[in-house]
Amino acid sequence: MHQDGLHVEGVALADVAARFGTPCYVYSRAALTAAYAAYRAALQAHGMADRSLICYAVKANSNLAILNVFARLGAGFDIVSGGELARVLAAGGAAEKVVFSGVGKSRAEMRAALEAGIHCFNVESASELGRLSEVAGSVGRRAPVSLRVNPDVDPKTHPYISTGLKNAKFGVAFDDAFELYRRAASLPHIAVKGIDCHIGSQLLDPAPAAEATDKVLALVDRLAAAGIRLEHIDLGGGMGIQYRADEPAPAASAYLAPMLEKLAARRERLMFEPGRSLVGNAGLLLTRVDVLKPGAEKHFAVVDAAMNDLMRPALYDAWHEIVRVMRSGIPRDGADDTTDAAMAYEIVGPICESGDFLGHDRHLALNEGDLLAVQSAGAYGMSMASNYNSRPRAAEVMIDGDAVHLIRRREEIPQLFALESMLP
Ligand code: LLP
Repeated sequence: MHQDGLHVEGVALADVAARFGTPCYVYSRAALTAAYAAYRAALQAHGMADRSLICYAVKANSNLAILNVFARLGAGFDIVSGGELARVLAAGGAAEKVVFSGVGKSRAEMRAALEAGIHCFNVESASELGRLSEVAGSVGRRAPVSLRVNPDVDPKTHPYISTGLKNAKFGVAFDDAFELYRRAASLPHIAVKGIDCHIGSQLLDPAPAAEATDKVLALVDRLAAAGIRLEHIDLGGGMGIQYRADEPAPAASAYLAPMLEKLAARRERLMFEPGRSLVGNAGLLLTRVDVLKPGAEKHFAVVDAAMNDLMRPALYDAWHEIVRVMRSGIPRDGADDTTDAAMAYEIVGPICESGDFLGHDRHLALNEGDLLAVQSAGAYGMSMASNYNSRPRAAEVMIDGDAVHLIRRREEIPQLFALESMLP
């Protein structure tokens, strides 16, 4: 740690807070680039770099600057809405590298994606296939299609982010997929291109994804035997990241190896849809301690970020490390977080809900005015933020070496009700 506290690349977080205020999301371009490079290196190690495409899952963080960093690295994008398509195109992403996932694509979204010329629609139901065929016909195009199959594999993650079990709303039931492919192959406005699956998120054990890969490959071979040859296999996203000091995550190379070994000898193009693992540890949420409030049993540190800024703790009971930005500042009684002056705090926001917490039982030595960094907040942080309690959403900043770029201004209060109107 530097004299002036925690840094991101060459920039002190205290300076970022002084310049842009708090709460503020701070991202590192170098960390984004390194996370992408780790995927590329794993593909390269299996001789698959040339026939694979990493489609960044936009939902994890859809800021234009982040999309643009990945577009410049050559990434494709996994989108789930017309809004995300518009963002990708605005950020310089290539439409022909876009895959469109999601269980409920509207006709308008289908039309926009067809007109943009995306790589593939990841179709999740028979009904969607019929609708897509109709829409493609109406605009005189053939829709490139992959079926998202549900391999019924337990990903062993939080139930809210587990998607590949057979009771999930996602994907085409594995046993129905073969017939649906036959139907797709017979439709004049559908071009069958590939297959995809995504079994869940924040997966730390590579075994479930490898098991899903086996099931997918068996289906690909069965389809080929029936004359339906697929060009690509898309194994979704889901690779987990390290959130807690005591819960390490596998490196990309280790997580991907069991899947890549199964694919190395094949001819299909390979795709992944990683979100969290590309951005999660490349971002943090900078917040300031507003009020220290001793309680009968618990001490509270009320900070200026809240569940509207980072919803993951409230929604999934997710753990984010919280550290003080300045250790060499003037902590209480000159104490450090490792000394007796540290206390167990509930780190909470100002929102009127008991669920508004960022961390329970954190051992920190705090003063009012201290800056804190909520770590691993690059994924599903800002993209899930809301204006609850009429709180303007945080500013976002990207560090690139010694340079600091404001990539989203802090919202202003009048913007929050600019679209509303009163009765005449
Ligand atoms: N592909 C599909 C079809 C998905 O549904 C998802 C995430 C991804 C790719 C990217 O998965 P990742 O690599 O990020 O695990 N809000 C939750 C996570 C929801 C994930 C939804 N689907 C959270 O904050 O943990």
